[in-house]
Amino acid sequence: LDGFLTPKDLGGLRLLVSAGPTREYLDPVRFLSNPSSGRMGYAVAEAARDRGAEVVLVSGPTALPDPWGVEVVRVESALEMRQAILERYAWADAVVMAAAVADYRPAEVLKEKEPKVEAERLLRLVPNPDILKELGERKGQKVLVGFAMETGEGLERARGKLLRKNLDFIVLNWVNREGVGFASPENEVVLVFRDGRVEEVSRRPKRQVADRILDHVKALWAS
Ligand code: CTP
Ligand code: CA
Repeated sequence: LDGFLTPKDLGGLRLLVSAGPTREYLDPVRFLSNPSSGRMGYAVAEAARDRGAEVVLVSGPTALPDPWGVEVVRVESALEMRQAILERYAWADAVVMAAAVADYRPAEVLKEKEPKVEAERLLRLVPNPDILKELGERKGQKVLVGFAMETGEGLERARGKLLRKNLDFIVLNWVNREGVGFASPENEVVLVFRDGRVEEVSRRPKRQVADRILDHVKALWAS
């Protein structure tokens, strides 16, 4: 019932959120994927809903239940995610792209499960489209937020992504730190802005990280 008491400071905002991993099938029973749990993106969707936003959540496969009061679109592959997002882009005022989109997919998807196809044939990969970069190329007045999963320091790599994808800001998080990241209920991030400003968000529940991200979405949306 928390949501009832939350001030509706995002009333009127139409927010598109992506979350979770994608699955890139090799055949009907095998796929390439990553350990994203979807929790950070779901936390953003739920926090925005509680603050009065209209929310569409495009989600890769996760173990999380559909949040109430949010339109959930379930997809599997990066190509499906791209289509679901592009179909709703015109509608949105802001996009938070928290999904861990697989960078590659198998060149060929076998229709039948065949016993142990040669690895060279099974694992021939082609790059997936960069969904967020496509959104950035048609940015207009929209607020665009990306995530950058990095090991090591990563600030300069995150800055590069922010500029290359034409975002308002990017959320830098680390995949190999104790107690934060992929499956954890907590996160520790750095928000990196276009003007070079950075804001450190110390370790806290993902829901509180989500609220900090949304504070900035709100400010950018209003301006
Ligand atoms: N992203 C996307 N489409 C892709 C890959 C990434 O929309 N095909 C988005 C992610 O959802 C994230 C941001 O781009 O918001 C950065 O993702 P990340 O994997 O950190 O960066 P990449 O550009 O894929 O670069 P690399 O993995 O090589 O570091
Ligand atoms: Ca990537």
